[in-house]
Formats: sequence, structure tokens, C-alpha cells
Amino acid sequence: MSNPALRQILAFYRDLGITELYLAPPPTMPEQLPNPLTVLSGDDTLDLIRQDMGECTRCRLHAGRNKIVFGSGNPASPLVFVGEGPGADEDAQGLPFVGRAGQLLTQMIEGTAKKEGIPVVRDQVYICNVVKCRPPENRTPEPDEMQTCGQFLFRQLMVIRPKAICALGSTAAKALLGTRDGVMKLRGSWHKWNDIPVIVTFHPSYLLRPYNQNAKREAWEDLKKVLHYVYD
Ligand code: URA
Repeated sequence: MSNPALRQILAFYRDLGITELYLAPPPTMPEQLPNPLTVLSGDDTLDLIRQDMGECTRCRLHAGRNKIVFGSGNPASPLVFVGEGPGADEDAQGLPFVGRAGQLLTQMIEGTAKKEGIPVVRDQVYICNVVKCRPPENRTPEPDEMQTCGQFLFRQLMVIRPKAICALGSTAAKALLGTRDGVMKLRGSWHKWNDIPVIVTFHPSYLLRPYNQNAKREAWEDLKKVLHYVYD
């Protein structure tokens, strides 16, 4: 293999957050890395990614999960919402944002779209999370868990190639932008993930807390901005 091709493959893995590679997979390695040629050639699909994930045991989160929550919605959506990780309801159903926070997210998407005259409902966008297994007690995912599962998120985003991404909360922002800044600092302006515009807004769970009601107005503003950008 020529050096430029090798360099491209190594850069690809580095972008996925994978910094250690075996020259040849050890015979005991149960789950292989994706074939970079499939991914780079544009032949990757959401089904292939889900297949590669299998009954994943790559990180400790697998131990407590019931169902892997891969993502749902329109695989050709121009807009992707990225949350943090499944909660109890999502873990039980295998679908993202189906609990209380999910109901609020649906209301936020559909309410803002309707008010702005944009004909979009939840099923027409794509929704997924940084980690696909529920963290115990809904704790924040650890950096190594985000790194391991992030490769699947990044492949999902590369396959969908949306016009914009909406990061819900600081975990999603951190995974996509590599920043330690919080939502307060990041919201209100555009960022980029691999040339795709990213808006950061509050996580719906944060908005459910009664003392965070001021943030709700800001979240509607963020949603208005991204919906107009994508659908106007
Ligand atoms: N919170 C998330 O971040 N994701 C979900 O799917 C549900 C709640």
C-alpha cells in the first residue's frame, strides 16, 4: 500500500478517535475495526455500522444495558440531533429520546417548526446519541466510553452527511467539537464537525428542571436557527 493511502487510513482512524492500531488483529480480538476502504470509498451504510457494532462489548457500558440504542428517524435527513446516551426508557425500548426528555425534544422540534411554518415532524429528522448503551444511574459517559462509541457516531454522521447537526448538551458538544466549553459558551454561534455546521443547545433533560426555565427560551432560539438554516 502506498504511503499516501496509508496516511489517509491512519488519519481516518485518528479522526474516529482511535489512536492505537494493531498491525494484524490478534486472533482473540472478537470485534474488528471497520474496513477503512469500505468507509473511505463511500460504501458505508447505517446497516453496516449497526452490523459492525453487533452485540457490542467494547466498553464497560455493555454490562448494564438491555438494548443498544443505535438511532432512529430518517437516514437521509438533512438534520441530525445528537444526545448524550440512553436513559432507562431508551434502554428498555432500544430507541433514542422516548422518555420525558424525548417528549420534550419532540415538542421542541415540532412546536418550533410549526410556529416557523417549516413542515417538519420528528420522524423526518435523525436522532442518535454519543454512546449507544445506557450509563449506570444515567451518569455522564467517561472519556474512554465516548472515544470507543464515538467511532460509530462519526460513521453515522459520515453516512448521513446532514446539512447541519444539533448537539444536545455538553457531552454531545464535547464529542463533536473536542471542546471543554459548556453549552452556555457554545450556544448562539455556529461550529463545525468535518465541515458540517453544528449548533449546540441545551439538553432537554436540563430544560426539564424547574430552575432552568430561562434556558428554554434560548433553546427555542437555537432550534429556530438550525431549522431555518436546514429547511429554508
Ligand atoms: N438523553 C439522551 O441524551 N439521549 C436519549 O436518548 C435520552 C435521554
